[in-house]
Amino acid sequence: MIYLDNAATSCPKPSTVIAAVTRALAEVCASPGRGAYEPALEAGRILLKARRQLARLLSARDPSRVVFTLNATHGLNLALKGLLAEGDHVVVSSLEHNAVWRPLQSLVAKRGIRVSRVPCGQDGETDPADVIAAIRADTRLVALTHASNVLGTRLAVEEIGPAVREREKLFLVDAAQTAGSYPIDVEDWAVDLLAVPGHKGLLGPQGVGALYVGERARLETLVEGGTGGNSESAEQPQSLPDRYEAGTPNTPGIAGLSAGLDLILQEGPAEIGRREMVLADGLRRRLAEIDGVRLYGPGPGLGAAPVVPVLLPGMSSAEAAFILDRAYGIAVRSGLHCAPEAHRVAGTLNSGLVRFSLGYFNVQADVDAAVEAVSEIAAKTAARREGP
Ligand SMILES: Cc1ncc(COP(=O)(O)O)c(C=O)c1O
Repeated sequence: MIYLDNAATSCPKPSTVIAAVTRALAEVCASPGRGAYEPALEAGRILLKARRQLARLLSARDPSRVVFTLNATHGLNLALKGLLAEGDHVVVSSLEHNAVWRPLQSLVAKRGIRVSRVPCGQDGETDPADVIAAIRADTRLVALTHASNVLGTRLAVEEIGPAVREREKLFLVDAAQTAGSYPIDVEDWAVDLLAVPGHKGLLGPQGVGALYVGERARLETLVEGGTGGNSESAEQPQSLPDRYEAGTPNTPGIAGLSAGLDLILQEGPAEIGRREMVLADGLRRRLAEIDGVRLYGPGPGLGAAPVVPVLLPGMSSAEAAFILDRAYGIAVRSGLHCAPEAHRVAGTLNSGLVRFSLGYFNVQADVDAAVEAVSEIAAKTAARREGP
C-alpha cells in the first residue's frame, strides 16, 4: 500500500515506536505514580520523559503544564468545556475541525456561549486582522486551527497570539496538523492552550495526545478520580498535571509517543516539514498539469500542512478514492474530513475532496505513483466521455 492519508493518522509507525510499546507492555506493565517497586517507577519515568519531550517540542517552560489526553479531540474538549461559561464569546476560523466546532455547538446549546466565525478566502487564507477585529468585550477565547486539515492553509498564530494576549483574552491552538512538522512556540506566540494528537505527525500510536495548559488558563475538570496521591482528599488536586489526569494513563501509548518524539526532536520539526512540503508541492504541481484535475487550497510554496486536496474529472471524491485504493493500492481520504465549513468556503460541500496527505515516511516514488494513477484515471474518464 502507498499510504497518503497521514493527515488522518501517520502510517507506518517507526520500528522504535513499536518496540517501545511492546517493551512497555512486556516489561513495565505497572501503574505509574502508584507504587514504589521498580516497574511502577519505570512507568513513571516513561511519562516524565514524554512530558519533557512534549514541553521541548512546544517550547513550553514547564513540563507539568503538559497534560496527557486520548487524542487531540479530548484535549480540545477539555480546553473548551473546562474554560467556557454562560455568556462567553469565542472567535474561531472558518477552517475548524469538528473537534472544535462540535464541542462549541454543544456549549452554545448548554451554556449559552456565543461563537463568531471569521470568514476566509476560497483557499482558506485568513487575515489575522479579521481575527483580531472579531474580538469583543465579552470574548473569552480565540480558538484557531494552526493549519487546515482540508486545504493545508496555515493561520498566522504567531501574529494573532500576542494581539489576543494584549486584549487580555485567552488563545487556544489546535495543532493537530502541525505538531511534528512545524516548529511551535507557545511562549513566543502567547498561546494559553494547545492540543496535539500523538498519532499523527508525532508518529506515536493511536489513543494518546496532549494538551498544553498555560498559567492563565484555569480549567474545570472533565473527569475526576484517582491520581495516585493526596487520596485522603475528596477534591481533585489543583496541581498540574494531576488535576487533569485522573485514572491510569495509557503508559504503553505514551512510551510509543516518546519513541516517536525521539525521532522528531532529533531531526527537528522544521526539517521534517520541509521534506514533506517539497513532496506535497511537487505532487500539487504535477497534478495541476493533468487535464480535468482541479486543485484546492493555497498554491505550491504557500501551504503549510503537506495536504493536497483535489477533484478528479467526472467522479465523486468517494469514487476516486475507491479506484485509487482498489486499482492502485493508494490510500487517501475522501469526503468532508470532519471540517464541513472548510469545504463550504472551498465550494466542495457537495462533492467532498480527495485528500492526499504526505508524512514522515513518504518518498518521491509515492508521489510518482500518485501522479501516474491520477493521470490514468483522468485519461480513462476522458476516453469514456468521448465514446467509441
Ligand atoms: C485540524 C484537526 N483538529 C483535530 C483533529 C482531531 O484529532 P484526533 O483524531 O487526534 O482527535 C484532527 C484530526 O483529523 C484535525 O485534523
